[in-house]
Amino acid sequence: MHQDFTLLWASLAGHKPERKLKGLVVWITGASSGIGEELAYQLAKCGSRLILSARREDELHRVKRHCLETSDLKDEDVLVLPLDLLERTSHEEKTKTVIRYFGHIDILINNGGRSQRSLFLETSVDVCQALMELNFLGTVSLTKQVLPRMTQRGRGSILTVSSLVGLAGAPLATGYSATKHALQGFFNSLRPELTDYPKILISMACPGPVQSQIISNVFTEELNKPVATVGSQEHKMPTNRCVHLMLVGIANGVKEMWIAQQPFLLFYYAWQYAPTFAWFITDLLGRKRVQNFKAGVDADSAYFTKPKTS
Ligand SMILES: NC(=O)c1ccc[n+]([C@@H]2O[C@H](COP(=O)([O-])OP(=O)(O)OC[C@H]3O[C@@H](n4cnc5c(N)ncnc54)[C@H](OP(=O)(O)O)[C@@H]3O)[C@@H](O)[C@H]2O)c1
Repeated sequence: MHQDFTLLWASLAGHKPERKLKGLVVWITGASSGIGEELAYQLAKCGSRLILSARREDELHRVKRHCLETSDLKDEDVLVLPLDLLERTSHEEKTKTVIRYFGHIDILINNGGRSQRSLFLETSVDVCQALMELNFLGTVSLTKQVLPRMTQRGRGSILTVSSLVGLAGAPLATGYSATKHALQGFFNSLRPELTDYPKILISMACPGPVQSQIISNVFTEELNKPVATVGSQEHKMPTNRCVHLMLVGIANGVKEMWIAQQPFLLFYYAWQYAPTFAWFITDLLGRKRVQNFKAGVDADSAYFTKPKTS
């Protein structure tokens, strides 16, 4: 039985997130938009106490206000803690601040990160380095501070938001895909180092395309060059569906979650069980994706018969 079946079974017959996550202290990075923002709203409704982190403090306060308006949480149950994943020297002090405030951390959700839209031949290696610094080393650095707090207590969960491209490959995302593969390798190796701590869960969420601000914020060929075409979000999984499945997964101890709509979910199966076929089909769709990108239309229109141009 593979991970999306595990997730399906858990969502039908497993623990309900609102029962398992009530009262737990959950630290979310990348909480100022997209998946992280929605995680905050759904966890608030579950009754989890929250630490909201990202760089934009005003956005975090907006998310906090919405959490308080739509749940039974009180002001003191949600801590806004601005954090830059790139400022690794700050992570120890940020973790101490959380411990001083809540006493412990039950769940760390490593969600903050950025993606990429550019061809490797045209992309500066500085972009690959920046992606690795943020998505991989930023995540590893925060985990390095939080994990000892969990081993001391003998319990806790670390959920890291990887991606479909943490398991497979996709053109226009060479550096980004490398960071997510790196995270997969890191956490899959960390998990068996923790067998003395059976109540510590190391979990990976691997979403396919999800509605968020991710394309507006992507890295391109050069650092600080904005993306030309953002494109439609219509074909992507709604953010609330993706987050609901993540919470079902964490409430039920799922170690790897494949979260995507078709046809994307088929890619996980192809890459896992029939890689030669997967390379063929990825070349086929990838060629169209690159052609669209070069023509200046939305690269994702490769998946559809009618190109999406807005
Ligand atoms: N959307 C998708 O299709 C998709 C699919 C698979 C995986 N993912 C993953 O899901 C996660 C969330 O992305 P999203 O789709 O929700 O995109 P998003 O809407 O752009 O959100 C990204 C979040 O990361 C934060 N962030 C960026 N740079 C940061 C830094 N230096 N330090 C701290 N926080 C930083 C942003 O906040 P600030 O700008 O305020 O710092 C923002 O809250 C990412 O890890 C992404 O790789 C997304």
